[in-house]
Amino acid sequence: MSEQCNLCAGRGLIIRDNEAEQCPCVKQRLVDNRFKASQIPPKMSKHTFEGFQLTYYSDHKIDPVKKTSYRGSASTTLQAAKNFVRSYLDDPHTPGLLFTGPVGSGKTFLACCIANTLLAKNKNLLFAVVPDLLDQIKATYDTNRLNTVTETQLLDTAREVPLLILDDLGAHNYTDWTRNKIYSIINHRLNYLLPTIITSNINLEDLDEYLGERTTSRIFQMCRPYRLLVDVDIRMQEARR
Ligand SMILES: Nc1ncnc2c1ncn2[C@@H]1O[C@H](COP(=O)(O)OP(=O)(O)OP(=O)(O)O)[C@@H](O)[C@H]1O
Ligand SMILES: [Mg+2]
Ligand SMILES: [Zn+2]
Repeated sequence: MSEQCNLCAGRGLIIRDNEAEQCPCVKQRLVDNRFKASQIPPKMSKHTFEGFQLTYYSDHKIDPVKKTSYRGSASTTLQAAKNFVRSYLDDPHTPGLLFTGPVGSGKTFLACCIANTLLAKNKNLLFAVVPDLLDQIKATYDTNRLNTVTETQLLDTAREVPLLILDDLGAHNYTDWTRNKIYSIINHRLNYLLPTIITSNINLEDLDEYLGERTTSRIFQMCRPYRLLVDVDIRMQEARR
């Protein structure tokens, strides 16, 4: 405990009406720890469903697959995200989601809305940015470094956490080695019916080219796919405002 609570001086107990009771800081610390453990970057911890704006998605451009406007598709995707939260609270083995779409279309934003809502409801989860996770695993091989975590620990966390957000499973240069790591996470989660929310800028039909057939087939089995389409990167749209 680095910063001491001035109610209980770090003891975790306060005396009220001559009786000891748990200091509110104990619960707050649990919330803080859960949030820290989720590894959601602070900037993204503010993303909520209320802040998800549909106006960024064109209401006249047509999604060629869904035959609805971009806004219509985004609205369906938003609803699917909200439905996931509801189902997950009911059943922790509910199927996951796959958000695809171009750069700056709100995929990560929406995944964070799910994560933040569930964290607020005391659920444990992990937000893993795929390229970073792969780098962290690689770094455990470096014998010159004082490694505090092992590859197995990193992989086990991603395999076993009740809800995993795999952010940016995108169009990177995958090697056999990186494909195997991703396969081992996905395969375990499928076998144990642990939901995964994936964001990716790869089109569904190209997924197997990047990730291989076995991983792709499993992703389709465990995640429902949804699209977010924009004609202009939302980061650019924000910058113009
Ligand atoms: N629906 C939305 N409502 C409000 N702001 C949004 C929305 N979608 C995205 N943004 C804003 O745009 C930024 C970029 O969105 P996000 O990171 O979700 O894009 P992405 O689809 O994950 O892109 P990439 O493929 O580059 O990872 C967000 O940080 C947020 O500020
Ligand atoms: Mg993203
Ligand atoms: Zn206290």
